[in-house]
Amino acid sequence: MVSVSRRSVLALGAALPVLGHLDWALASPAPAASDYVLLNYNESPYGPSKAALEAMQRGNAASARYPYPHMYALAALFAQQQGIGEDNVAVFAGSMAALRYAVLAFTGPTRGLVMATPSYEVPRQAAESNKAPVHEVDLDAQHAHDVPAMLAADPQAGMLYLCNPNNPTGTLTPTEAIHQALANKPEGSVLVVDEAYIDFCDAQSCVSWIKDHDDLLVLRTFSKIYGMAGARIGLAIGHPALLERLAVFGGDNVPAGAGLLGAHASLEDVKLLGQRKALNASVRDETIAWLKGLGFACTVSHSNCFMIDVRQPAQQLVERLAEQHVLVGRVWKNWPQWVRVTVGNRQEMERFREVFAAQVQRVG
Ligand SMILES: Cc1ncc(COP(=O)(O)O)c(C=O)c1O
Repeated sequence: MVSVSRRSVLALGAALPVLGHLDWALASPAPAASDYVLLNYNESPYGPSKAALEAMQRGNAASARYPYPHMYALAALFAQQQGIGEDNVAVFAGSMAALRYAVLAFTGPTRGLVMATPSYEVPRQAAESNKAPVHEVDLDAQHAHDVPAMLAADPQAGMLYLCNPNNPTGTLTPTEAIHQALANKPEGSVLVVDEAYIDFCDAQSCVSWIKDHDDLLVLRTFSKIYGMAGARIGLAIGHPALLERLAVFGGDNVPAGAGLLGAHASLEDVKLLGQRKALNASVRDETIAWLKGLGFACTVSHSNCFMIDVRQPAQQLVERLAEQHVLVGRVWKNWPQWVRVTVGNRQEMERFREVFAAQVQRVG
């Protein structure tokens, strides 16, 4: 095992070309706690914004009291920004919790889950534990959700899950196809559109559609572009009756005020999204262009992650990169030669390139 010292990671950073003004303003330092480059959980390398961090300090001090006023204030601000009702927004301790509750609420032994593959595995795992049949449908040739095939997969489906942009591919499903899913899904089923990564791209959000559809649930998170994965704040957006069905499994479960105040400050910081979106896109596209230059195909990502066809067993490559302290992944069972990579900051992606180039050369 070759160890890479923290000093060498910093030295590599020093050798990088001078970053633009925007980059310095937003770039985080090299990983502080260790010399590992973490490109494996689609987290943000930039962390909470300055305004969010200040608000989180205030939130800590507010921990003596129950957090409900902060929960309602966050829901109200999001609703106001999106032009929907406050009662259309519920706050959860991460969108993963809302997603699991949705699966528990809408599926069961006689009402299956239909989803794409490769896609975010949490709904499948929740459905399996709920003894619901799971129908996984391959992405289409453009790596979009194959909506006609999803609609045909299970006439008894209780829930269709559509992740846009998709995790792990970062690819988009056309708005028209999502409309088609909503209009033609099995009777009594719910369409869950997971928009964890929507702020990284220009695609239309489905949030406003909930005004006309009581069988559509949209999920958002503060873990990705807002850089607050550890604070565990997510939103479920839908008709109040739909949100009620989730609340049965655990509503009002958001701890303390820090995350809530940080999320509120993030939403108020209207310039943040554009800056982070532009920075992510530029680092992502540079990295993908470099990989393509080496002859590796990549998915067309509109997100903070993408997949590379490494033309060899991807899990083995993940392990070799990990030995060099660059953590990437995961690998999906039906795409065994593809690996997911999260877009880090420029220094992190430089390190990724260096280690990736050395490891793939070894295989030839
Ligand atoms: C598509 C998708 N949905 C939901 C989540 C979970 O987000 P949260 O941190 O809000 O629970 C993730 C996290 O990786 C994700 O990729």
